[in-house]
Parts: sequence; structure tokens; C-alpha cells
Amino acid sequence: MTSTSHDRLLIIDFGSQVTQLIARRLRESSVYCEIHPYQNVDDAFLADFAPKAVILSGGPDSVTREGSPRAADSVFTLGVPVLGICYGQQTMMTQLGGKVESGHGTAEFGRAFVTPTDAKLSILDGWFEDEKEQVWMSHGDHVSAIAPGFEVYGTSPNAPFAITADVSRNFYAVQFHPEVHHTPNGAKLYENFVKLAGFTGDWTMGAYREQAIAAIREQVGDKKVICGLSGGVDSSVAAVLIHEAIGDQLTCVFVDHGLLRKGEGEEVVAMFRDNYNMQFIHAQEQDLFLGELEGQSDPETKRKIIGKLFIDVFQKYAGEIEGAEFLAQGTLYPDVIESVSFSGGPSVTIKSHHNVGGLPEKMGLKLVEPLRELFKDEVRALGVELGLPKSFIGRHPFPGPGLAIRCPGEITRAKLDILREADAVYIDQIRKHGLYDEIWQAYVAILPVRTVGVMGDGRTYDFACALRAVTSVDGMTADYYPFSHEFLGETATRIINEVQGINRCTYDITSKPPGTIEWE
Ligand code: XMP
Repeated sequence: MTSTSHDRLLIIDFGSQVTQLIARRLRESSVYCEIHPYQNVDDAFLADFAPKAVILSGGPDSVTREGSPRAADSVFTLGVPVLGICYGQQTMMTQLGGKVESGHGTAEFGRAFVTPTDAKLSILDGWFEDEKEQVWMSHGDHVSAIAPGFEVYGTSPNAPFAITADVSRNFYAVQFHPEVHHTPNGAKLYENFVKLAGFTGDWTMGAYREQAIAAIREQVGDKKVICGLSGGVDSSVAAVLIHEAIGDQLTCVFVDHGLLRKGEGEEVVAMFRDNYNMQFIHAQEQDLFLGELEGQSDPETKRKIIGKLFIDVFQKYAGEIEGAEFLAQGTLYPDVIESVSFSGGPSVTIKSHHNVGGLPEKMGLKLVEPLRELFKDEVRALGVELGLPKSFIGRHPFPGPGLAIRCPGEITRAKLDILREADAVYIDQIRKHGLYDEIWQAYVAILPVRTVGVMGDGRTYDFACALRAVTSVDGMTADYYPFSHEFLGETATRIINEVQGINRCTYDITSKPPGTIEWE
């Protein structure tokens, strides 16, 4: 558990796919919250956490199954407002004396409409202006009898107890998911809930910045910190924040493996060494990486070589910084909660560019992770708060192994040069057409195939390339971006005319799944 002086809301997680969205909605109302798996929340935990309100999430189980998850009973004697969502609603009803039954024609999945009863409820302020509200349902079980003290405030065709509450005890229960976009007025419901719970909306970026800086100073004291800077948003924001806290006690190590995009190395150096005046090591290790990769064409082998070299190189440079006791990482909140996932399965490894795999233990370093409480969009907001340019903060994600995974087959310097040029033209096109911010990620892959073409009066025999552009929320699923034919035609013409070595352009329209975003 993290320490914070802010009012805190506790989300007890029963394993819903969308629990994280609850946290996002709450943070949009400037409310600080944490998600914890139901197994971890016992009386001692609750006493220590001291939540100002509790939300019980949805989940895949059935409360009618023996041994299914329950909230600690003390949740209902804390004297704070409690909101149950879907499974959370059902366990709440069961624990408080109501009844839940399974399916039999009353399951509801997807869009549904809730209509109000005559009674008014404060968490529904702003609802039902059009008589009924669209909500998103996803339940097989349903409440068949509400617990004593509860009243009905909204019904849907298959959920007669879609919205219920015991106002005297501040208990609220909804069958649908207000946190998803398909419940258009859902954010309003959360806003009303936190208002009645007395939250003052004190979770602002300015407040966070102050608090984080004080915490870093307290943790680090007069010791030194090293930070592996990738140039990506997370490590950049972490570095700037830590630099603001401890100045020259921080040294950043930026490893240039020769697999960066055109102008990227210079941009990172200009931003951090020249602009922020940081202690900065620009590790020029292009020859090492490209040398080891020579002749390798298997994607996993390539990734492993890069991963191992990255650690070796980082360790070498970090070892030169005398007295370094801490390693800074741009670990985000989703990484933290994934690692204590509901399933209880093996914890999901933090993405490779977020931590320099096992290095802290190996080098006896302690971690400084000032972004552990933030979501990606909050990290961007913090970056802006810290004065990083919006253009830098809004850049598309770029993978740790860089252009290596956009160059299927063997990597050569010649191919990388062609790829860098083509990629620069493509991104320029996207920016010129004002599409950059609509796209999650866009890049060119150079294909391991040459094709015949004709330019002027001559025959060409050059590489083919694939353009990729996807929309996504988190990189886990993605769809291809629907460029106009005019845009694609213009871009292909520019690449083939301006980039020597490419004579054919294709557009990749594979979604993820079944494809992945990167080609390797
Ligand atoms: P895939 O190709 O798995 O990519 O659909 C999903 C997202 O992850 C990025 N990616 C990586 N990022 N190290 C990283 O830091 C990696 O090894 C790596 N592989 C993929 C990819 O660019 C996309 O945003």
C-alpha cells in the first residue's frame, strides 16, 4: 500500500475485466483510489487503509457457487458509503440478507435500458433526463430479492433490481457497469457517489508533483540515483520529476543501440542533457548491438540478444557512477496491479523497457518508482505539469528493441538506413494530415523481400515495405487505422520517390488479435 495524505477510496477487485476503468473514472473526478484484490482486504487492511468510501467491482464468478468470493463483512460496518457493481452488487445483496439466482432467461449482455422508479436517489442526479438511460450489462446471475433496508430506484427488462440502495446506511448497488463508455452517463454516477462520500477532489497533478518530490527526497536522502532513459514518455517523466527533486544526484543513462528512428538520439540528448542540464551518459553502443545481431534472423533470438546486451551495457555505465544506491524506473500503476492480479496466477512480468530485468537485485540497487500510482494519461499530464513539451509527451510508443522488430529477417545497417528514411516520410505525412494524435502507433516495416519495379526508363529491384498504423487503448488489442485511399496513395508515392532502396509499399490491415502491432 502506498502512503498518501489524500482522501482515499478503496476498490475491492473481484476480477472484472473493467475494474481499472472504475479507477480511471474516479481519477477523472480528482479522487485518489487504489484497487486491491478481495483476498487481501481483511479487517486489519481496512483499518490501515481507512477508506472514505468503498467500491465492490464486478467479477466473473457466481455468488451462487459455494466458496465464491466475498467482501470482508467489516466493509459494511465501517460506516462509509459502499457501491456494489454487478458481481459486487450481488455479493453485497447476499451478504446483507438478499437473494441471488442464476440465469434461466434473465441473463443480460451488452446494451440495456434502465427506467427510473418514482423514488429519487442522489447518486442519480443528472440521470433520466430522457426518461431512460442506456447502460451496459454483463451478467448471468441476477438479484431475485433485495436485502432488508434496500429500495429500488431503477429497473431494466431483465434486471428488476438494476439500481437499488439503502440510503440510511449509504449502500448503493447497480447491476450494470457505469465505468464503461457504453454507459454514457456512468461517469456522472461515480461523480455523484464520491461527492456524497465527501471527497474534495484533492487529487490534482500539482498536488501530486509536490508530494512525489517530497517523497523522493525523503527516500533518497543524499545518495545517488541512476535512471535508464529510453526517450519514451514514462522514463522521461520519471527522470524529469526525480531531477526536480534531487538535481545532480541523478544520472541518466541513454543507450543508443543503433536501432533508433531518424533523429531520435539527437532529440533525446537535446531534451535532457542540453535543455534540462541533467547528468547524462549517452552510451554509443551501435557497433556492439549491430555486430552481435549480424546474421541473426530469428525474432526471438534477436530480442534475446538485444535484451541481454542492454543489461550488460547499462550495468557497465551504471557501475561507473560511484555511490549509486538507487535505480529509477517508470513503472506505472497498471504494471503494479497486474502483478497482484485477481487470478492469483503467476504475476505478469513488468514490460521489459520498464525495468532493466533483474538488475536492481544483481547490482544491489533499491528502486525509485515515482509513477507507481499513475495511469498513462496521468503520466502525460504530469509531464506537461513538469514542462515537457506536449509534442514530446504525445509521441507514439516505441518498443525497447526498436527498429530491430520492424526489420523482419536479417538486420543490416543498409536496411536500417532505408527504414529510418521511409519511417520519417510516413510520420511526416501523418503529421501533415493532422492524424498523428488519432493514431496509437504508426511505423514502417522493411520487408525481407525485393520486388521488381520500373522507375523512369529503368528496371528497379528494391525492398518492399509495409506501413502500419493502429488505434488502440492500451496496446493489448488494436485495429488498423482507416486511412483514405488518397492518403495511402500519396504516402506510397512519396516514400518510393524520396527513399532510395524501396520500390513498393503495402498497407497492413491486420487487427490485433490475430496479428500483433509489431511485425516481430
Ligand atoms: P505487440 O507487437 O506485442 O505490441 O502487439 C504491443 C505494444 O508493445 C510494444 N512492444 C514493446 N515494447 N519492448 C517494449 O518496450 C518490447 O520488447 C516490445 N514489443 C512490443 C509495441 O510497440 C506496441 O506498442
